[in-house]
Amino acid sequence: MTRPDELAPRARTWPELAAVATRCVACPELAAARTQVVVGTWPPGARALLVGEAPGAREDETGVPFVGRAGGLLDELLADAGLPRERVAVANVLKCRPPGNRKPTREEIARCTPWLARQIALVDPLVVGVLGGTAAAWALGRQVRIAEARGRVLELAVSDGGTGRPLVVTYHPAAAARFGRYGGPMAALREDLRLVAELTAR
Ligand code: URA
Repeated sequence: MTRPDELAPRARTWPELAAVATRCVACPELAAARTQVVVGTWPPGARALLVGEAPGAREDETGVPFVGRAGGLLDELLADAGLPRERVAVANVLKCRPPGNRKPTREEIARCTPWLARQIALVDPLVVGVLGGTAAAWALGRQVRIAEARGRVLELAVSDGGTGRPLVVTYHPAAAARFGRYGGPMAALREDLRLVAELTAR
């Protein structure tokens, strides 16, 4: 029986955490349906951590976060912001793909939270960027409208991940793409990733 709340705090490095999290079966439905656990990527030295919602089909296949269509867009926008993906740690609120890409449940998020909280503590980033409503609600501890929360530096409200850490909330790339390349959400996402890059350069 995996207990993320007991195991995660004991991991002393990202690779150590990854080795344990990969075997997590705390959510039986997710553990049965997944191909693999998508722990996240951490290029050593990364000073920014981006957080999405949960792996999709491509991520479940490859074991790497944000490698599907939303990931391609994210890579492009990060490069434009002067913060290439190779210098950013990336993870999700949930480490396993919810069947059919359904929304994570509140219970799944609660069970998975110790992994992400520990990842934040281990990366010790200068800024955490959260992509979309699920990650924003996780980071702030309440539901927010992205349009209202984005565009400025807030504070992370997750206790064991470091309360008060600089936080930037923005649109999920997949949501921004729905409004088109020249839509408002895409412009906002570009701007917010530039803010993340700026905070990382300090
Ligand atoms: N969407 C997410 O939120 N995370 C991924 O890793 C891929 C798509």
